[in-house]
Order: sequence, then C-alpha cells, then structure tokens
Amino acid sequence: MTSNVIIANLGYLVSISCFIVGIKRLSRVRTARSANVLAASAMLIAVASQLIELETVDYRYVVAGVIVGASIGAVLAFKVAMTAMPQLVAVFNGFGGAASLLVGLSLFAAIQERGTLAEVMIGSTSGLGTGLTLLLSIVIGAVTFSGSILAYLKLSDRYGSVFGKSILLPQRHLITLSLFALSLGLCAALLMFLANPVVSTFAIICVALFALLLGVAVVLPIGGADMPVVVSLLNSYSGLAASATGFALNSPVLIVSGALVGASGLILTQIMCKGMNRSLANVMIGGFGGESAEGAGSGDASAYTNVKSSDVEESALTFESARDVIIVPGYGLAVAQGQSAVAEFASHLKGLGVRVRYAIHPVAGRMPGHMNVLLAESNIPYDELFEMDEINSDFRSSDIVLVVGANDVVNPAAKTDPSSPLYGMPILNVDQAPIVYVIKRSLSPGFAGVKNELFDLDNCRMIFGDAKKVLEELSVHLDLAKAA
Ligand code: TAP
Repeated sequence: MTSNVIIANLGYLVSISCFIVGIKRLSRVRTARSANVLAASAMLIAVASQLIELETVDYRYVVAGVIVGASIGAVLAFKVAMTAMPQLVAVFNGFGGAASLLVGLSLFAAIQERGTLAEVMIGSTSGLGTGLTLLLSIVIGAVTFSGSILAYLKLSDRYGSVFGKSILLPQRHLITLSLFALSLGLCAALLMFLANPVVSTFAIICVALFALLLGVAVVLPIGGADMPVVVSLLNSYSGLAASATGFALNSPVLIVSGALVGASGLILTQIMCKGMNRSLANVMIGGFGGESAEGAGSGDASAYTNVKSSDVEESALTFESARDVIIVPGYGLAVAQGQSAVAEFASHLKGLGVRVRYAIHPVAGRMPGHMNVLLAESNIPYDELFEMDEINSDFRSSDIVLVVGANDVVNPAAKTDPSSPLYGMPILNVDQAPIVYVIKRSLSPGFAGVKNELFDLDNCRMIFGDAKKVLEELSVHLDLAKAA
C-alpha cells in the first residue's frame, strides 16, 4: 500500500465520521448550523482524499471546479428565499441523480473498452457485484434525475402554473408499471447478452431512457401540495444511487455517505407523512391537491358564517393586557418575510412583561424545519420555540394565541370532521385558547384547500392583511402604549 493510499484511507475515515456526526447534529436546531459546516468539511476531506489516492489528477482543473462550484453555491445561498428551498433541494437531488447516472454510464463504457462486460461480470463474484450495482446506479440515478427536474418545474413560480397540479394520465398506473417492468427486463436482457457489445450498449441506453421516463411517470400525478414529500423521497433515492455508485467504484466514502442520505431522506419522508396524516402510498398514488375533498368545505369566503375581524389598534389593546402569549407561525409568515417583524413584536410584548412562546407544528410551512429556520434568521432564542407535543396542552391556560400565516396546522376539522382531508392530522390546539387572533390576507384556504373551522369560532378574531405589515403596525401601537 503506497503512502498516498494510506493517507487517503485515513481521510475517508475522518470524512465518514464527520458525516455521521454532522447528520446526528442536524437533528437539533441548536446544533444544525455547526452540523452543516461539519458535513461540508467532510465533503471537502472526501474529495481531497480521493484526489490524493488518484495521484495523477491535474489540480488546476480541480481548483477551477472548486471556485466555480463554491461561487454558484454562495450566490444561491444568498439569493434563494426560504419559500423556494424545496425547489432548490429538488435541483440538488437532480444533480446527484445525474452524477450517479453519468458515472454509471461512463463506468460501463470504460469496462466495455477494457474487454466485454461479460468477462468482468461473470469472471468473479465481485465483478457480478460491480455490474449489478452499476445497473442500480444508472436506474436509480435516472429516475432521481428526471423526477427531480419535474419536481422543480412543479414547484417553481415560473412553471408551476403549467406543471404544478397533479397531472393524471389515463392508465397512469399501467404506464408506470410498464416502464418499471421494461427497465428491469432490459437489465436482465443486458445480463444475458453481455458478450455482444452492440446489444449490451443498446440495452444500457434503453435502460437509462426507460428509467428517465419512469421518473417522470412517478412524479407527474403528484400535486404541488404533496411535492415536499416527493422531494424528500427523491433525496433518499439520490443517496441510494450514490451508494450504488460507491459499490461500483469501490469507494467506501461514497457508499457510507450515500447510505446516510438514503436513510435520512426516508426517515424525513416518514416524519412528513406522519405530520400530514398521510401514508407514503397515498402520496405516491397522487391526485391530492388536484381536487378538493368532498364534504370538507370549499374553503372560499362564502363557506364562513361567523367570522369576526378586528383592526390593529383594537387588537394591540388586548395584547397590552395579556400576560402569556403563544405565537403560531405558518407558511404565510415565510411568504410575507415577516420573521424580523414577529421578533420585534415579541420583544415589544416582552418589554411589557408578557411571556412569549412560539408553537412549532412539524409540517408548518413547506418543508421540515421551515419555521425553525425562519425564526432562527431573526435570532429568536431557541428556548422560546416549542414543538407541538411540548406546548399543545398550554394553549388552554394562555391569554392570547396569535396565529401568523398558519392555516391547516390549526384547523380543528382535523379532530372533528371525518370528511376533511386533514382528519387525523395532529394539529396545534389553538381553538382551546381564550382568545385567538389570526393574521392572514383573506379567508382563502391553506395548502389542503379546505375551510378552517377555527375562523368561525366565537373566540377567534381575524386581522386581515399582510403578516409583516400587520406585525409592524402592532409593534408601533405597543410602542406607543409603553411610552404613554
Ligand atoms: P397553509 O395551510 O398553507 O396556510 C398558509 C396561509 O398563509 C394561507 O392560508 C394564506 O392565507 C396565508 N398567507 C399567505 N401569504 C400571506 C401573507 N403575505 N401574509 C399573511 N398570510 C399569508 O400553512 P400552514 O398552516 O403552515 O400549513 C402547512 C401546510 O403545508 C400543511 O397542510 C402541511 O401538511 C403542508 N405541507 C407541509 C410540509 C412541511 S414538511 N412543512 C410538507 C408538505 C406539505 P391568505 O392567502 O388568505 O393570506
């Protein structure tokens, strides 16, 4: 073993350890930032170790690649809004899938050049393993790539109007199953005709093409609303594809990091499904978000009979006399970019001696941890953020609950209306509070597209307007109250 290989192996070990610790630390808000730095450093160590092992690499290209990649990453990090994060993740997953697909295809071409695939694959057990993982890397990579690009188009502001809704083709299940069967069948044919380079090359190209179509067929029927779950699942696929590529390339660091991404993506998908009270199968069959649920109420303004609105000045007076306020942030807060305004409003309340806490629903917003990240941006102390289970029994004893741009996650129909698509979804029990204020622009429904029973309750007051603007105005009134 040369010294370069020893150094590289040590590098892989350090990198794998950092990936594992990084993923573990990502699970807590408090440690998530440093976890990101750790995982990014692990990636740098992994790449550097690989280059040390290869020895013959021209470092000028590597440095150029790092500069270009880091510049694009930096620009994206500053420019992309939190609400656009799911589509950015979709693109990243797509690139991961494309990398596995391309590495798989080029490895296939390299093996063909050296001899026939048959000699490599049938010659030894490890050769067969290489061939099978190479096929997996191509199939999963292609599905991930095309599925993720379609997911991006569905989520993006520009193309969402065309692709966003659930697109239900006739015989879609048959089409999906046929593409799956064709991809697998061609893999089998490839193994049978390995000795013939023309047939095996044709078969591998067809495998890649059918797998690309399969990715489109899987994502097409899923509505814009369920897309974050699909993006998380595709994230898991991109990890599995990378892991398969790692086996084909005999790269331990790629095997482990791919497996970590695959497993964490699956766990995240599971958490999201649980938070929405949906099964993964139900999400993947699609159609949700395309039509509104029967009997659940259309969610338009005419569905309400007892809505009471309050103006900012009147509402500020009630807040002045409160002692215990719980703020419930939702997707609308992110849309309004009202995170600093809510932090400022809370600090005014605290200045008046009010206890302020934030209640975070696991699927508030459009991606896991959306609200935590948003509030962290405004330096809201972590110890003021409470998960649903920690705070759900406290709404009853609070003085006021302020719901800011949240809708589905506070809809009591999830507990009371079996016909609602939200039925069974765990929600924040804000309806139990003595007074609930809801800041939103209109009576439009949230993500699920259904009426919110909360808005008709006697203890609920609507403050109509943009979340940021309303919060800023509330702060002005509290400031005046303090000065008086
Ligand atoms: P939603 O139910 O989507 O409601 C957001 C509300 O924000 C809307 O009703 C909207 O009403 C309001 N809004 C939009 N822009 C606003 C602005 N500028 N100012 C004030 N209000 C504004 O949000 P939620 O309660 O956070 O629930 C999240 C939903 O997403 C759940 O149904 C969940 O299942 C789904 N989902 C979440 C995830 C994850 S992991 N977070 C993944 C998949 C799906 P107006 O238009 O009237 O203002």
